[in-house]
Amino acid sequence: MKQRSFVMLKPDAVKRRLAGEVLTRFEKRGLKIIATKMMIIDSDLAKKHYGEHSEKPFFKDLVNYIISGPVLATVIEGEECISLIRKMVGATNPQEADLGTIRGDYAIDTGRNIIHASDSPASAAREISLFFEDSEICEYTLPDEELIY
Ligand code: TYD
Ligand code: MG
Repeated sequence: MKQRSFVMLKPDAVKRRLAGEVLTRFEKRGLKIIATKMMIIDSDLAKKHYGEHSEKPFFKDLVNYIISGPVLATVIEGEECISLIRKMVGATNPQEADLGTIRGDYAIDTGRNIIHASDSPASAAREISLFFEDSEICEYTLPDEELIY
């Protein structure tokens, strides 16, 4: 089943000039980038995005960090891509993330762990609509789409 996931390269990814490299991994896997924009999130949006963590002890630091610099908000489309992308991203704590995953290869700290990716179809729908208008999402066919899917 074709799915959409919300993927966000966090400020550490942008500042460490890893944005292109991380997006390339998704492209090479055959996934399709259908929206992307660089933005500095305001704290209202940050709190909404991470609303499920509002009672956690790390919430304040998490919000302060995610608004500390530009992020690359992105929508990625592909077959069963929500769980696939989570696998490619790796464990929340990069120390526990397998080598070969994005966090396992690039990050060392749970706070600064490079990337966010939706964890379920419901979160994906909620997060995409928080960050994007429908008109900002591009529907198109890749030249080799029949080969990949
Ligand atoms: P969470 O949704 O649990 O992880 P994931 O990003 O893998 O879906 O947590 C959201 C972010 O909160 C996580 O990427 C980094 C931060 N965080 C901490 O700073 N400390 C923690 O103990 C946890 C669990 C998360
Ligand atoms: Mg999460």
